[in-house]
Amino acid sequence: MKAQAILETAQALVAGDKGLLAMDESVPTCDKRFAALGIPQTDEARRAYREMIVTTPNLGDCISGAILFDQTIHQATKAGVPFVKVLLDAGIIPGIKVDAGAKDLAGHPSEKITEGLDGLRDRLASYAQMGARFAKWRAVIVPGDGIPSRGCIEANAQALARYAALCQEAGLVPVVEPEVLMDGDHTMARCAQITEEVLRAVFEQLYLQRVMLEGMILKPNMVLPGLACSTQPTVDEVADATVKCFLRAVPAAVPGIAFLSGGQPSELASVRLNAMNVRFKTRVPWALAFSFARAIQQPALEIWRGEAANVPAAQQALFHRADCDRAARRGEYTAAMENA
Ligand code: 13P
Repeated sequence: MKAQAILETAQALVAGDKGLLAMDESVPTCDKRFAALGIPQTDEARRAYREMIVTTPNLGDCISGAILFDQTIHQATKAGVPFVKVLLDAGIIPGIKVDAGAKDLAGHPSEKITEGLDGLRDRLASYAQMGARFAKWRAVIVPGDGIPSRGCIEANAQALARYAALCQEAGLVPVVEPEVLMDGDHTMARCAQITEEVLRAVFEQLYLQRVMLEGMILKPNMVLPGLACSTQPTVDEVADATVKCFLRAVPAAVPGIAFLSGGQPSELASVRLNAMNVRFKTRVPWALAFSFARAIQQPALEIWRGEAANVPAAQQALFHRADCDRAARRGEYTAAMENA
């Protein structure tokens, strides 16, 4: 019974040309983005911002599922409608971030381990009760001189797999997110090498923890050079390197790969996803989808700036980005969409 529901949710999350909207910034992360634009860092400002997002007209045309943060899943619109109900009424599946953040990994300078397994079974049960049908856990892999270490990769892969198994036990689809960061001057080839090693470790651990691959979504980074790398590849080179890496390391049983945006400019994230679908959509076993936070939200946040009067224009910008990413899933995104 639970297994069937998990399979159906996983399929629904990557069905057609829709994708996920990540709106699960923790309080410190949300505050950092508000502070950069001079927006007050208050509970009410964060709530109003999330209300602007979830009430965006026709959002459900482009977005299959939205990832909430613990505080947000408990919140409601000013009129008192819980955000979970707003999403369900819009045809959007509610999801929840359940990790407790990436902390320093002992004995491994500059490397991170994601915490949050203690008490997770009970938290998942209560989120499921509140209407969540999927969950997300993010592992952070930092590329650098001599890192990532095998110890860091294995520790994060095991945590992801234990989280994923607990999700499925609770009837939730795990969105498994191992993110190789874009920070640094590493080359695209180095990112490909690290991403492949991480994915192989993650799928080995998912197997050992008996996770049903058909009932999960992978949320990885695209294969990209570091932001400070002197050689920046073309869009087609990114698409080729990314799909090549995933073909090597991601089992065909996984229904969908929903990329994170990782700080790429919004339009570039759409262009790169589009190129992958143009070149490979009919030749890969999984959906090539999106689960963007910044690449969908940032233009809208810059318009909203904490002002109620800016809500309609911000919602228009949010919808536009989601619509571009939806077109990219079909391989039909064009630069002209940006000027329409
Ligand atoms: P970005 O798309 O901004 O990388 O965020 C995705 C996400 O959910 C990070 O955990």
